[in-house]
Amino acid sequence: MSSPPHLRLGVNVDHVATVRNARGGHHPDPVQAAKLAIEAGADGITAHLREDRRHIRDNDIARLKAEIAKPLNLEMAATDEMVAIALRTRPHAACLVPERREERTTEGGLDAVGQHNLLAPIVAKLGGAGIRVSLFIAADPGQIEVAARLRSPVIEIHTGAWCDALANGQVAAAGAEFARIRDGAKLATNLGLEVHAGHGLNYETAEAIAALPEIVELNIGHFLVGEAIFVGLDEAVMIMRAAMARGRAKVPR
Ligand code: PXP
Repeated sequence: MSSPPHLRLGVNVDHVATVRNARGGHHPDPVQAAKLAIEAGADGITAHLREDRRHIRDNDIARLKAEIAKPLNLEMAATDEMVAIALRTRPHAACLVPERREERTTEGGLDAVGQHNLLAPIVAKLGGAGIRVSLFIAADPGQIEVAARLRSPVIEIHTGAWCDALANGQVAAAGAEFARIRDGAKLATNLGLEVHAGHGLNYETAEAIAALPEIVELNIGHFLVGEAIFVGLDEAVMIMRAAMARGRAKVPR
């Protein structure tokens, strides 16, 4: 057997902006954090421009695109405003995420099944502009099949329910959720989709997810920004990379 594909780390800098916005002004700067994360080994930077601009702002996205040396993944709601910004900014990738409750499945991911007709032209338009589109969905076979039918080249599997179950000591629920993520990643790969994962990951859960060879990218934010308080962002990124490498090493070759 051959080696599993490289597992990329996308560092989400939203919560650097959350801290900055708590006091106004410019400090701490999410673009500076992005550059530090890249120097420490991040393969890309992720930022979510929310409709309410509660953390990342328009100027942060423009600066990230202009100043960082690695791919930018723009997380965005499937709205006309965000599509216009994405087409103007031309990030490497755009991950469509739910922002309002009615856009979500019960697991919290985008409801690609219920929103098929809204998503189809957006996936086509962004893809036509050379932006690699990803749908942030639960590891639900119905959602994955619709993502493939929409010709989204990538899905990002929502790991939040699994991380929450683990954190709450719900062992059986966590086991079932991990199996769903594993099976969903296999199904998606068989349907020709590239598979990413994210939400709520820490060193331990990232290591466990890294052992799934179908998953080729993790997007991690809140935990790394929290850890940065204790060890610095560069150190947190390096420890995360080491955890991911340990997980990847468990894949049978
Ligand atoms: N992936 C997606 C699509 C997200 O929306 C988020 C949260 O913004 C993340 C990954 C990162 O989640 P966390 O901040 O919990 O690591």
